[in-house]
Amino acid sequence: MIVTRPFPTARLDHLDPFLLLDRMGPVTHGPGEAKGAPDHPHRGFETVTYILDGAIEHEDSQGNHGSIGPGDVQWMTAGSGVIHSEMPAEGIRRDGGRLHGFQLWVNLPSRDKMMKPRYQELHAAEIPTATSADGKVTVTVIAGESLGTRATIDTRTPIMYLHVRLAAGARFTQAIPETYNAFAFIVSGQAAFGDRLARENDMIIFDRDGDEVAMTTENGAELLLIGGVPLSEPVARYGPFVMNTVGEIRQAMIDYQSGHFGEIG
Ligand code: CO
Repeated sequence: MIVTRPFPTARLDHLDPFLLLDRMGPVTHGPGEAKGAPDHPHRGFETVTYILDGAIEHEDSQGNHGSIGPGDVQWMTAGSGVIHSEMPAEGIRRDGGRLHGFQLWVNLPSRDKMMKPRYQELHAAEIPTATSADGKVTVTVIAGESLGTRATIDTRTPIMYLHVRLAAGARFTQAIPETYNAFAFIVSGQAAFGDRLARENDMIIFDRDGDEVAMTTENGAELLLIGGVPLSEPVARYGPFVMNTVGEIRQAMIDYQSGHFGEIG
C-alpha cells in the first residue's frame, strides 16, 4: 500500500487534537498484492476511516465486523481499548483492484481516554452533503457544519471534517471557529488560499487569527478541511496507544499483554 503521511513527521508531531493523517493510495493493486493491518490494539483516541475507492473489511474485539466502501465512514472511538484488523476487501486481496482512503487519528480528552469503545459507521447515503447556490461547491459533511448542513456523527469534542469538491472557477468560504486548530489537505487539483497555491498532497495549516477560510480554484480541486478544539493536555504516545503520561502508556502495554483488550472472534 502506498501511504502518504502529512503528519506525524519530524517537523510536526501532531496538530492538537489530531495525531495522524494517512492517505492510503490511490493505488491499483494486482492480484495478491494488497496488504492491510492485521490484529492490532488502540487505546486513548479515535480512528476515523474514510474510503473513497475500494473497500476495507474490519473486525474487532467488541464483536463488530463489516466492510466500508466508497463514501463510507467509520468513526471508531477506541477509548479504554480495542483490538481490530483493517484489511482490503477479500476480493481486492485476491483479484487486485483500486484502493483509496484516509485515516485520521483524533485524540480524546483525558476524561474520555478510558471510555467504553464506541463505533459509528455511516454509509455514504447517510452522510449529509450540501451544495452551494451556484452549484460549484459540494461538501460532504462528515463532522461539523457547512453550507447550513450539520453532520450526524457525534464527536466527543468539537470537530470539523469536511470533504470539499470545487468545480472549475469555484470560490468557497468556510466558517471555522477561532478556537479551532484547522488544516486543509489537497486530494486533487489545485486551490488557492489567499496568495498560497496548494497542490495534491499539500497540507495547509491555517492561522488561528480569523473565523473563516476562503479558497478559490481555477480548474477544480478536491480537499479535506479538518479542524477541532485543541485539548491542550500532555500527549504521551507510543505506537497504537496515546495517553497523557508515560505511566498510562506503561499501563496500556500491561493491560494489552495481559489480555484486557479482549480478542477478535
Ligand atoms: Co487500527
